Amino acid sequence: MTTLKSLPAWSALQTHYEQIRDAQLRDWFAPQNDTAPTRAERFTFTGGGLAADFSKNRITDETLGLLVQLAREAGVEARRDAMFAGEVVNPTEGRAALHTALRAMDANAPFHAAVKAERAKMAVFADKVRNGAWTGHTGKRIRHVVNIGIGGSDLGPKMVVHALHHLATPDISTHFVSNVDGADLHRALEGLNPEETLAIVVSKTFTTLETMTNARSMRDWFVESGCAESDLAKHFVGVSANPAEVVKFGIARENVFEMWDWVGGRYSLWSAVGLSIMIAVGSAQFDELLAGANDMDRHFREAPLERNLPVLQALIGIWYRNFFGSQSYLVAPYSEALHYLPSYLQQLEMESNGKSARLDGATVDYPTSAVTWGEPGTNGQHAFFQMLHQGPTIVPIDFIAVLTPEHPLASHHAKLLANCFAQSEALMLGRTVEEARKIAGPDKPDLVPHIVFPGNRPTTTLLVDALTARSLGALIALYEHKVLVQATVWNINPFDQWGVELGKILGKVVEADLTAAAADVKPHDSSTSALIARARAALNG
Ligand code: F6P
Repeated sequence: MTTLKSLPAWSALQTHYEQIRDAQLRDWFAPQNDTAPTRAERFTFTGGGLAADFSKNRITDETLGLLVQLAREAGVEARRDAMFAGEVVNPTEGRAALHTALRAMDANAPFHAAVKAERAKMAVFADKVRNGAWTGHTGKRIRHVVNIGIGGSDLGPKMVVHALHHLATPDISTHFVSNVDGADLHRALEGLNPEETLAIVVSKTFTTLETMTNARSMRDWFVESGCAESDLAKHFVGVSANPAEVVKFGIARENVFEMWDWVGGRYSLWSAVGLSIMIAVGSAQFDELLAGANDMDRHFREAPLERNLPVLQALIGIWYRNFFGSQSYLVAPYSEALHYLPSYLQQLEMESNGKSARLDGATVDYPTSAVTWGEPGTNGQHAFFQMLHQGPTIVPIDFIAVLTPEHPLASHHAKLLANCFAQSEALMLGRTVEEARKIAGPDKPDLVPHIVFPGNRPTTTLLVDALTARSLGALIALYEHKVLVQATVWNINPFDQWGVELGKILGKVVEADLTAAAADVKPHDSSTSALIARARAALNG
C-alpha cells in the first residue's frame, strides 16, 4: 500500500531538505541574491481578501514545488472535493463534515434549505433580543447574554464576539461560561440582573458534563432570583444537534436552535452555535462573517495548489514538522481583537490533527499536529520571545497583522505594526558574532555570545486590510482548510476526537469516588488513590 513516506515527493523532499537545511534566509534576502522577482514577490500570495507573505520561511521555489507535488500525490484535491460534496470524510463517526455548507451561497449546496431556515429563525430571534421585543419575565429587555458551552460550543463564538466588539451593540453584554469550575459561572453572573439576562445553552450533544452542570446552576440562579419555572422559557434557549435532550432539560421546543451531526463542534461557529455572535453584531454582520468564509472556501476550491493559501500554509507547516522536526508552532496576532484566536486554533489544530491512527487504522510513522500556542503581540515580546530569538529550539511563527485599526487610537497603530514586522525581520536576520563584537566593543568580549542571535527563524506574515466580519470569516476558514490539507497529507481523520473520551469515562469514576462512602471508593494506582484521599479529606471537611 502507498504510505506517506513511500510517495515520490516525500523522498525528493528528504533529499532537498538535506541540501538546504543549513541555508541562511539572510543570504537569500541579501540584495545581490534577491533580485527581481524578489522573494517577497515570489512568495506572497493572496486569496479570500487576505495576503500571506511566506518569503521569510526556509523555502525555495523547489521546496514549494515539491511540497505541492506531495499534496497532489497525497490526494488533497480529491479529499477537499469530497468534503465539499458532503461525502463521509469522517469515517470513524460515519459522517460528512459540511461546515462549508453553512456558508454556501449556492442553492444546490448540501442541506441548503435547512441551513437557510435555521439561520432565518436565528435572525428573527436575534433581532427581537437586539431591539428589545424579547423581554425577560418581568418585562425588562435583555441586557446580558450568557453563552454556556465548552470546546467548539464556546471557543469559536467567544473568539468572534471579542474580535468584532467594535461592531457589537452597546446595549447587550456577552459573557462566556465554559469551565465546570464554579468560579467561571459565579464570576460571570456577578453583577448581572437575572431579569435582564438570557442564557444560551450550546452543546451539540447536550450531554457534556461542564455545560449541563453550568446550565443547571444557571437555572437555579434564575429560580432563586424569583423567576417561576414556567417563566424560564423567557431566559433560556438551547442550541444542539440533540433537540430531544434540550427539551428534556426544560427548554421550550420553539426556543431550540438546531445544528446537525455533519457539523463538527470545532467547525460550528457558522451554525446556530454562533447565536451569541448574531445577537452581538446583528444578522447582517453574521452574514458578512459567512460571506468571508465563503470567499476563502471558493479560493480553496478554485485556486491552483501553487497559489492556494490554505494549501501553502499547511504544506509549509508540514515542512517544519516532518522535515525540520519542529515540535510546536506559534500564532501571534498583532491584534488585541484577535486575543482568543490562539486558543480557538489550539482546539482546531490539535483536536483535529493530534492523532496517531491513520485512516486505515495503522499507526503513523511520522509526527502529526504540532503543539499550537500563542498570545497577541506585542505582549508576547515581553514574555516568551526571548526563547524564540535565542533558544536552541526553532518555533515557526504565523504573525497576523491588521493594517488599519478598528478603534479610534490610530496613533498606536504604527507602533503595533512596526513591532510585528520588526520581529519577523529580527528572527530572520539574527545578529552575527561579528556584529555582536562591534556592539560589545573591546571592553566586553564576554558579552558577545549573549548578544548573538542565530537568526534563520522562519515566519509567515498574514495581512488583513481591516478587521471586518468578512475578513475574520476568511481568516478562520483559512485555518480550517489548512487543517484539512495537513490531515490529508498525514492520512488521518481531522473530524473525530476519540482522544477526549478516556478521561471523560475515568472522570465519572473518580467523581463518584470523591463523594462515595469510604468503603465504596474503588482502587486506583497509588498516585490517583492518594490524590483522591486528599481531595476527600478537603471536600468532606
Ligand atoms: O470533549 C471534546 C468535545 O467533544 C469537543 O469536540 C466539543 O467541541 C466539546 O467537547 C463540546 O461538545 P458539545 O458541544 O457536545 O457540548
